[in-house]
Amino acid sequence: MNDPAHQEMLAPLQASVKEQGDLVRQLKADKAAENDIKLAVTELKARKKKLEDKLLEISKVEEGDQIDRAKLEDLLKQRFFYDMSFSIYGGITGLYDFGPMGCMVKTNLIQAWRDMFVLEEQMLEVDCSMLTPESVLKASGHAERFADTMIKDLVSGECFRADHLINAAIEKMLTDKKISVEKKQELQKLIPLVESMSKEEMKNVIEKYSIKSPSTGSALSEPLDFNLMFETSIGPAAKIKGFLRPETAQGIFVNFKRLLDFNAGKLPFAAAQIGNAFRNEISPRSGLIRVREFTMAEIEHFVDPSNKTHPKFDSVSDVKVPLYSACAQMDGKLPAEMTLQQALKDELISNETLAYFLGRIYLFMVHIGLDPKKIRFRQHLSNEMAHYAKDCWDAEVKTTYGWVECVGCADRSCFDLLQHSKATGIKLVAERSLAKPTERSIVEVNPIKATIGKRFKKDSKLVQQTLASLSASEVEEVANNLSSKGSHSLAANGVTFEIDTTTVEVKRYKKTIHVEEFTPSVVEPSFGIGRLMYALFEHNFKIREGDEQRTYLTLPPAIAPYKCSVLPLSNNAEFQPFIKELSKNLTRVGVSHKVDTSSTAIGRRYARTDQIAIPFGITVDFDSLKEPHTATLRERDTRKQIRASMLELPEIIRDLSLNKRTWKDVIESYPSFEQQENTK
Ligand code: ATP
Ligand code: GLY
Repeated sequence: MNDPAHQEMLAPLQASVKEQGDLVRQLKADKAAENDIKLAVTELKARKKKLEDKLLEISKVEEGDQIDRAKLEDLLKQRFFYDMSFSIYGGITGLYDFGPMGCMVKTNLIQAWRDMFVLEEQMLEVDCSMLTPESVLKASGHAERFADTMIKDLVSGECFRADHLINAAIEKMLTDKKISVEKKQELQKLIPLVESMSKEEMKNVIEKYSIKSPSTGSALSEPLDFNLMFETSIGPAAKIKGFLRPETAQGIFVNFKRLLDFNAGKLPFAAAQIGNAFRNEISPRSGLIRVREFTMAEIEHFVDPSNKTHPKFDSVSDVKVPLYSACAQMDGKLPAEMTLQQALKDELISNETLAYFLGRIYLFMVHIGLDPKKIRFRQHLSNEMAHYAKDCWDAEVKTTYGWVECVGCADRSCFDLLQHSKATGIKLVAERSLAKPTERSIVEVNPIKATIGKRFKKDSKLVQQTLASLSASEVEEVANNLSSKGSHSLAANGVTFEIDTTTVEVKRYKKTIHVEEFTPSVVEPSFGIGRLMYALFEHNFKIREGDEQRTYLTLPPAIAPYKCSVLPLSNNAEFQPFIKELSKNLTRVGVSHKVDTSSTAIGRRYARTDQIAIPFGITVDFDSLKEPHTATLRERDTRKQIRASMLELPEIIRDLSLNKRTWKDVIESYPSFEQQENTK
């Protein structure tokens, strides 16, 4: 066997057997791999199916979520909640008039706000001038920086807000079915960044994606700044340049000293103001959401910057809110629901006072009837923040226009008070007690009034103001210059004034100090009443099942224009005295109501009252004529009815409206009634 010739013959055979063995093994391995692949494919198919089912489910929920905006707008117009101003002259975009129903809803919304904030939190309410001199808005930074970036259609001249134009262009590109996965991802990443882009970055995006005018397809201008304030002049000689205020806040800051005095010098305290603000929006669309004149309800909560705790934080610490932090936005993550306590612990929200107000804002929004599933708080990205803000969270509400900011809640730190102090030379500070009294060396540089007036004439006031607003270290520098050189160059408003020992006097002395001064920080919740109203209409707009024409609004009684309707079943004269009596008694207990004595069928009249959100309706019918006199009471959302004594009804409705009693309780306590609803 060891014969070499034999071996030589065997070798190729052995090699071939080995090769075949390898082949068989390879085949087996391939077969196994094929099976694995088949299994993997089946698994992937199953997962794909699950995902598709899930997507279908989500889209169904969203569909169910979607309202027919055209139908809602019809209702709001027809029943005169609001409509475009000056419409018989063709109307002006961004200006709206509220009709009777809109006025009542707005009044009730503001009342709910006053109850929850001004009354419950003991805030100091003020009502300041809307016409504001330029000096105030220069100091606040608005004259220079309250601007949006605008882009013009180079052919038609039409103006667009740059961030809105770019976002719309991205949305459009994303709907293109042929778009590659990479490009889709790139565009999606861009969306959260657009609002905070610089003009240069916007220009680059427009060039990169060849974005054109959405109206004409023409080329676009470079992005440019457009100041949103309406300018005017005050007085017949037009000597004082002024603006219509772009926010109500400045009125509070300029009154800070008086308000602090009123509050006996104590912090924290909050001032509040409700009133109109004006912004010359570049391209107002979307109804009440972006207008040029709107009502704001603003709170300025003044707090010691070294202690931003809130005495009532415990009352909201367990409230769960959806928070969409700046990090989550940057990382493409979804908002996370958590308690405010947890958010503070995780340092998502920068301080307790800010967290307290996010909680109160959330509770208010739910109380007025917004859908809690459609509310979230979105943190501003660092370069998106207004010029005065340090941290900012917007309460956003989901509408058919997408997520819309309805309340901004900013930590304005001490920016505004410092600015107004610098501009006026008036100290806008509060005092805090020191742990123990300390002795301090004090330096003062005081104007010598007689000589300063002679030397600086018309500028003497400016020189005195500048001296008064110097910080401690600046006073030290002036005093040192005066003693070493005998003079000092004082810079004021870009001009230099030479002061010396004939115009100012330096005083140095020791003083025992018990308190120290500081500039308070401000946390500012800022509510847009019109946006909240519109969101309320969307979230409460319903259509009766099986009857497309019967639209109605499920506003809670506190916000609904009237709490109750009073209807005679027909125009039978015998019902009249009962209707009058009911109306008198409802007025006596403070229930707003609407009497409808038209001869329309009762079912139609119910439908009409449902459209204007009236939550309860009393009907006087033939049984009412009998003793004991009773009437029916109907609830809007369930359309269920009960029968109760006419004398009792006004108080039942008052209690239902004030949430002192529930409809369930009423249903269980009185005999039910079933008839009139179906009479058409
Ligand atoms: P946006 O980014 O939508 O222009 P904003 O950030 O300028 O809003 P803020 O300056 O924070 O808004 O104003 C506070 C609140 O005032 C907003 O939350 C909003 O409810 C309301 N508001 C602001 N601008 C308008 C407007 N043009 N029309 C209606 N309401 C507005
Ligand atoms: N006062 C806050 C704002 O107008 O944004």
